[in-house]
Amino acid sequence: MRAVVDAALCQGHAQCVLVAPEVFELGDDDVAHVVRERLQEELRPQLETVVRACPVQAISLTGE
Ligand code: F3S
Repeated sequence: MRAVVDAALCQGHAQCVLVAPEVFELGDDDVAHVVRERLQEELRPQLETVVRACPVQAISLTGE
C-alpha cells in the first residue's frame, strides 16, 4: 500500500503528521510529504484515520 498527498490540495493542516508521524512529514513548503514508500497492511487502520482527518481530503491510499 502507498499513501499519496495531493500537493495541490494540501494546506498544511498537519493532521496527517500528528496521526502518523512515521509516514508523513510537513515540508518547508507547508505541504505534507510521504516519507515511507511502501506501507505495511498493519498500518491501514491508522492511515484510514489519516485520510478522514485531513480537512481538505488531500490524502489517498493505493492498493499496490
Ligand atoms: Fe496537508 Fe491534509 Fe496533512 S492539509 S498537511 S495532507 S492533514
